Amino acid sequence: MPNTKTLRYQELADRLTELIRQGTYPPSGRIPSVRQMSKQQEVSISTVLQAYYLLEGHGLIEARPQSGYFVRGQVVKRLPEPEMSSPGRDPSRVSLHELVMMLMRDSRDPKLVQLGAALPNPDCLPIKKINRIIANITRHNSAALHQYQLPPGLDTLRVQIARRAVNAGCSLSPNEILVTSGGIEAIDLCLHAACRPGDIVAIESPMYFGTLQTLEVHGLRALEIPTHPRDGISLSALEFALEHNPIRAVLTISNFNNPLGSQIPDDRKKDLVEMLARRDIPLIENDVSGEIYFGEKRPMVCKAFDKKGLVMLISSFSKDIGPGLRVGWVAPGRFKAEVEWLKFTVSAASPTLPQMAVAEFIESGGYEHHLRHIRREYARNVDLLSAAVMRYFPGETRVTRPSGGFVLWVQLPENMDSLELYKLALQGGITLAPGYVFSATQQFPNFIRLNAAEFNYSTERAIEQLGDMILEMGK
Ligand SMILES: Cc1ncc(COP(=O)(O)O)c(C=O)c1O
Repeated sequence: MPNTKTLRYQELADRLTELIRQGTYPPSGRIPSVRQMSKQQEVSISTVLQAYYLLEGHGLIEARPQSGYFVRGQVVKRLPEPEMSSPGRDPSRVSLHELVMMLMRDSRDPKLVQLGAALPNPDCLPIKKINRIIANITRHNSAALHQYQLPPGLDTLRVQIARRAVNAGCSLSPNEILVTSGGIEAIDLCLHAACRPGDIVAIESPMYFGTLQTLEVHGLRALEIPTHPRDGISLSALEFALEHNPIRAVLTISNFNNPLGSQIPDDRKKDLVEMLARRDIPLIENDVSGEIYFGEKRPMVCKAFDKKGLVMLISSFSKDIGPGLRVGWVAPGRFKAEVEWLKFTVSAASPTLPQMAVAEFIESGGYEHHLRHIRREYARNVDLLSAAVMRYFPGETRVTRPSGGFVLWVQLPENMDSLELYKLALQGGITLAPGYVFSATQQFPNFIRLNAAEFNYSTERAIEQLGDMILEMGK
């Protein structure tokens, strides 16, 4: 049953559609800002935003960074986006390991068209440059790289990470940063440091299955919070959850959630940090795709607003330099001593050579140059994959419009089962990630995640094949 707010934004969207059709708002012209429209129509800011999102979804208007909303010159048809997720209100244990291990095994099969794992496009990795740097290091530093780089990790790398964090609004000292073996180890260390078995962790819904696995391993309970495909976690839903549950920590992928592609707007990141600071609750912030943004400006991180050391910021170089290097990092705030001890206890140190290579790549300016290239490539491939989904999938399909990263979250018609599709797709030589693995409580049976990192002839054919399978399943 739609609530009155839903009706209000739909009414507003209908009225604006009519005004655009009549030419009151002509093609390429600006429409009133969200604030002006909210005053003019006496509706809330969020009602206007929802209406504008809907019109964008219908290809009638577009947002231009720092300029506002404009009527599209040429009306482009696009599939609508999924709506805000609506998980249940109770925390739940996680049990997904069998499904996840099945996906892991398929992701290693070179014979399959890989639309499942969120792996970067091999052509978008700086392989030659990193190999050259590694060759150089091994010629000149052969003794040093055989030594442990004990926690907190290589000094020169931590200096480079701290310098880059400035672009995300963060003033970090290298001493606040600890090198890890990828982002996944950082997530594990943070949850281990902040929580005890049985604790409740509030998470965005859907959530990257690696995080759900870590919750499962530590015996933690997931409390899934409604999350918008553009704006990320709903702060009002989180506030409600905080009032009714003894939540130990909150975990978000603030920029380009995997699988949703959502990005918490910078002003709401501040609100989120302040909301948690009032209750002294840590925020584990995963920013592994934060550098792969399609807009003009690097989005901020929540950590930029952290005054109490409660934000544990995590990132890694797996999405942009290469997952095989296993270089990640964490700025754990007030949990630093505990995280450092855990890191030393679990793996003593991360390998030295990849840390040296990454530090050198950033310092030489190669990283910045490389990022500019892959941002354009990924933005293009995401658009191409999404257009292919529109061409071949049934008309009721919905798809996200990420402003960064390289995954698409696709909502299939209501009666579709993503696991059934997964099995059919495997027989046809294609892997995808079924919606089941992104929730502890099976919120997304008719969703799939597609990796849009690479788009070529076989990707297009695979999407066509999937479209046929979905149509067949619907019969
Ligand atoms: C959101 C998110 N966090 C963490 C990871 C894992 O990162 P790493 O390979 O650096 O451990 C991934 C990989 O897919 C991811 O998508």
